[in-house]
Amino acid sequence: MHLQHLALTNFRNYRHFEAAFPPGAIILCGRNGQGKTSLLEAVHYLTAAHSPQAATDRQLLHWDAARTDSNPYLKIAAEVAAAGGVRKLEVRLELGQPSGAAGEPRLRKTVLLNGAKKRVSDMAGVVNAVLFLPQDMALIEGGPGGRRNYLDATLCQVDAAYAAALAAYTRVLAQRNALLKALHDRRSNGAAQLEFWDGQLCLHGAQLLARRVLAIAEIQTHAAPLHRELAGGSAQLRLDYRPSYAAVPLQPGMFAEAAPAQPGVEEIAAGMLVRLRALRAAETARGTTLIGPHRDELRFMEDGVDLGLYGSRGQGRTAVLALKLAQMAWMHTRTGEWPILLLDEVLAELDQQRRSQLLRHVTGAEQLLLTTADANLFDAPFRAHAQVWEVLAGTVQQRP
Ligand SMILES: Nc1ncnc2c1ncn2[C@@H]1O[C@H](COP(=O)(O)OP(=O)(O)OP(=O)(O)O)[C@@H](O)[C@H]1O
Ligand SMILES: [Mg+2]
Repeated sequence: MHLQHLALTNFRNYRHFEAAFPPGAIILCGRNGQGKTSLLEAVHYLTAAHSPQAATDRQLLHWDAARTDSNPYLKIAAEVAAAGGVRKLEVRLELGQPSGAAGEPRLRKTVLLNGAKKRVSDMAGVVNAVLFLPQDMALIEGGPGGRRNYLDATLCQVDAAYAAALAAYTRVLAQRNALLKALHDRRSNGAAQLEFWDGQLCLHGAQLLARRVLAIAEIQTHAAPLHRELAGGSAQLRLDYRPSYAAVPLQPGMFAEAAPAQPGVEEIAAGMLVRLRALRAAETARGTTLIGPHRDELRFMEDGVDLGLYGSRGQGRTAVLALKLAQMAWMHTRTGEWPILLLDEVLAELDQQRRSQLLRHVTGAEQLLLTTADANLFDAPFRAHAQVWEVLAGTVQQRP
């Protein structure tokens, strides 16, 4: 799929922006602080109405709009060309009245798909994109929460059943934790209630686990060769999923059907339930749920060495790039559509060999937006097939 048209109102430093986008490569070039990353952020926002870098949506609203407009709002409107036709997606965030004396004003979110009002969860799969940000290095070096979020966001784009299971699991986990806390504080003796939440947790948790293991195995088949090409050696990249409990040995083959099904998922759920019962005293003492997909780990291994612990910066960067390119190929296999590729400052910090390998690879994307402060970092053959757009203080102009 590719973006055909994008209109922004009050998004970051874009007061008003509108442009038609061609397929192929577009290099967004400009000095620091002009709006390059913000443009990628706006496109990626359309995948799940969630910013990849802002802590709150409030940060996305243009300062001037928030300060001076009588009815401050921001809007992202896009037309995306996909196999089934053009999809029109619009997300609008409106600043309401402060909620209570100390409360921050709340943003009301409205989603329109082809003109019809939808829920945020209905956006999944409408616009698919793969984003690389310089801070994605944290995927390898940072805590496990970032890796779980990455898995969740990636799977939600292409797997509606995963998105539904994740929503259910998150709800159940919150309820169960509240009950465990109450048991811990002796405010409740709801053992029967806990039985119920145990069952629910295992039901949805097993779905998440099965779908993650399968997806990682599939992504891995793309990532390993991509990584070898990018790194230019024979080192083997492996994505190692480590569940917080291992009731049954996990084999991707267990879930290899189009939809993960029995016996794999049932076995996992049953095993998890047994483990939960054994952990009951510990969980009550801690007042929280100790096992489940919200505690699982994903490690990046290069020839058996954990890159999160021992990798150099360059090695980590190469592994993340291989992961993102693999994600693109994987999404294409799953959906039949190429996602839009969004690469922020991707060439900085790569040596010449990795740079040209990367550029050779990404030219295969249906559409890619790349940002840079210096268009000369892109080699001549790449630039010959790319448009160069100049980004300056929230405006964009095509370079002749
Ligand atoms: N809510 C907002 N309202 C107005 N301006 C904002 C808002 N949030 C961020 N900005 C500003 O938008 C500008 C563009 O930021 P952006 O990250 O897109 O720049 P960039 O071109 O990618 O720069 P760099 O090369 O440094 O990465 C920055 O100057 C930033 O301070
Ligand atoms: Mg930037």
